[in-house]
Amino acid sequence: MASFRIAVIGGDGIGPEVIEQAIRVTDRAIQCDGVKIEWNRLPWSSNYYKETGTMMPDNGWDILQQHDAILLGAIGSPDVPDHITLHGLLLPMRRRFDQYLNLRPAYLFEGVESPLRHQKPGSIDFVVYRENTEGEYAPVGGRHYVGTPHEIAIQTAIFTRRGCERIMRAAFEGARKRRCKVTSITKSNAQVYGMVLWDEVFETVSRDYPDVQAEKLLIDAAAMDFVRRPDSFDVVVASNLFGDILTDLSAIITGSMGLAASGNINPERRFPSMFEPVHGSAPDIAGKGIANPLAAMLSAAMLLDHLQLAKSAAALRSAVGEVLKAGKPRTPDLGGNDKTEAITEAVLAAIKS
Ligand code: NAD
Ligand code: IPM
Ligand code: MN
Repeated sequence: MASFRIAVIGGDGIGPEVIEQAIRVTDRAIQCDGVKIEWNRLPWSSNYYKETGTMMPDNGWDILQQHDAILLGAIGSPDVPDHITLHGLLLPMRRRFDQYLNLRPAYLFEGVESPLRHQKPGSIDFVVYRENTEGEYAPVGGRHYVGTPHEIAIQTAIFTRRGCERIMRAAFEGARKRRCKVTSITKSNAQVYGMVLWDEVFETVSRDYPDVQAEKLLIDAAAMDFVRRPDSFDVVVASNLFGDILTDLSAIITGSMGLAASGNINPERRFPSMFEPVHGSAPDIAGKGIANPLAAMLSAAMLLDHLQLAKSAAALRSAVGEVLKAGKPRTPDLGGNDKTEAITEAVLAAIKS
């Protein structure tokens, strides 16, 4: 029987709560492909940081590299500054493993009510291709005269031609497998270096895809259009920060943060890719057993697709769809009163092997 090794970083808050549920349903779904997964749980988290002073051991990258993929919950704890925890594990991982493609699908499932009253099931159906290794997230800059009245902080955004080009090509290739439309998010009216390069590369790449409709939107107008006409998007390509912000918006217009899945992908497969829900550690509901595990489960389905276990991925995804369509059980974020584990039981029952 074929077997895969997956590194599991539950992390903080609701991270471990939802990831354990995702593992349970994935173990069931993979029976469709007749394979096995060995889950290697790693304790790297804010608690690990409080005990050891680092987010992961010195050989952490080597350990991760020995896996076929990584499943992550969330990192971030109210008692440790985010700039320490996120810069000790999650953000460096995206760069180190060259996971430059951050895929974030937005889909309005049947049985889920969008806060946008005109949207029907399936009418919102797009994928954000977020650049994941440079842009506004480049760790370039510094602080000078710290703590003095004339303190200076400099944070430099990095846009490279190669970085823009590879995410945009991925977006156009992706659009060819969907409805053949790509929308590029920009702010070249204000950011006249990085975003102008972004636009120029988009223009150049789009010429190689005459069969794909190319559209350009300023980020402020795009935020409006995610609300006004979300049904008009197919593939959206955005820089690191713009893609981050827009995907919380795309999560809520499709019902909840608790439904939004993502993959941090190294398309060349030189390094392991990492799959995680879009949401964070949700300290406001952590420990209560009421987190929605569906975003984690849908992220696990993306992981299965990445492992080319298409039958298992489809089985898991359609089980999630069935549970949502049934309208119950539901966690409070979707208007219900049910617990995390009740959702898992329902998904397990809905998986057809
Ligand atoms: P968040 O996504 O954790 O929570 C935002 C809101 O959505 C909260 O009200 C929360 O209860 C709700 N929510 C999120 N996921 C849910 C789920 N599965 N079920 C039900 N409700 C859910 O964002 P935040 O509060 O801004 O951030 C909390 C911490 O998480 C911070 O430390 C932040 O830096 C970190 N964070 C980490 C990641 C990651 O590891 N990938 C992503 C985002 C935020
Ligand atoms: C996300 C998160 C991260 C990001 C944070 C935790 C650094 O918000 O994955 O969307 O901004 O990329
Ligand atoms: Mn985010």
